[in-house]
Amino acid sequence: MLIPENTYINLYHDQRNQHLVRYERNKKFLTGYGVVLFPPDLKYGTPLKSESGYTFYALKPDTSRVSKKLKRQTTIVYPKDAGLILLELGIHSGSHVAEVGSGSGAMTLILSNMVGNEGRVYSYERREEFLNLARNNHTKYGLFDNVEFTLRDIAQEGFIDNAVDAVFIDVPEPWNIIHHAYKILNGGHPAGILSPNIEQIQESHRVMEETGFLRLRTFEIIKREIMVRRGKTRPRERAIIHTGYLLFGDKIEKIETETSNE
Ligand SMILES: C[S@@+](CC[C@H](N)C(=O)[O-])C[C@H]1O[C@@H](n2cnc3c(N)ncnc32)[C@H](O)[C@@H]1O
Repeated sequence: MLIPENTYINLYHDQRNQHLVRYERNKKFLTGYGVVLFPPDLKYGTPLKSESGYTFYALKPDTSRVSKKLKRQTTIVYPKDAGLILLELGIHSGSHVAEVGSGSGAMTLILSNMVGNEGRVYSYERREEFLNLARNNHTKYGLFDNVEFTLRDIAQEGFIDNAVDAVFIDVPEPWNIIHHAYKILNGGHPAGILSPNIEQIQESHRVMEETGFLRLRTFEIIKREIMVRRGKTRPRERAIIHTGYLLFGDKIEKIETETSNE
């Protein structure tokens, strides 16, 4: 498949020498192993020799690789957590999703790629510098023009009233957002929360139950990379062990309790 101009490729020599770079015809790109010239009509998977004689390959970058390359000024949702978040929130092409806060835009990018042209991501952030950062990262790396970024403190002001199929919350005090999320979620649809500390999850769990969420479920994802080498295959020594806990629940209509004293 021919690589469209101005899209990103992963110019790969080995794990340590790979570059996320925009493909342009006849562009010269300087690597640690010499200059690589991009030919016109480049196909994914093609080997390219640097001037110093090293072979690089033009790979199609996956979303996980792109999200790790984003300029970031906040903690971000890591790919290991993003996978389960997408599944538990039932995100698919055409979904409408609300997200608080935008942060560096890592999760925004993943949501945007998943919902595609037919879908919509409403991304809310209370700090202007982070909103601009998330927007810039999306402009640089996003595949679809399907995100509405809004400067807004959701705990204070609530959401703009777009009905959505899922809400994802990644803020320090998620319990202040839950009743707002309940209002914009379609019935029977899920909300998800990412929090680094278990006390945050406990408080959010309590508020979700009170607000009207059912089927509450909490997870931690632990991922180990395995180094496969002849005669010495084992897990990598260093890893990101803890990122956060994930809490999900589905919105239900609450049954009216009888208040009559007669
Ligand atoms: C951990 S960062 C989010 C990272 C983001 N999920 C990503 O993957 O890049 C948390 C963000 O939530 C924002 N935030 C916190 N409370 C908020 C609120 N009540 N309304 C909107 N944004 C809020 C913060 O300003 C911060 O940028």
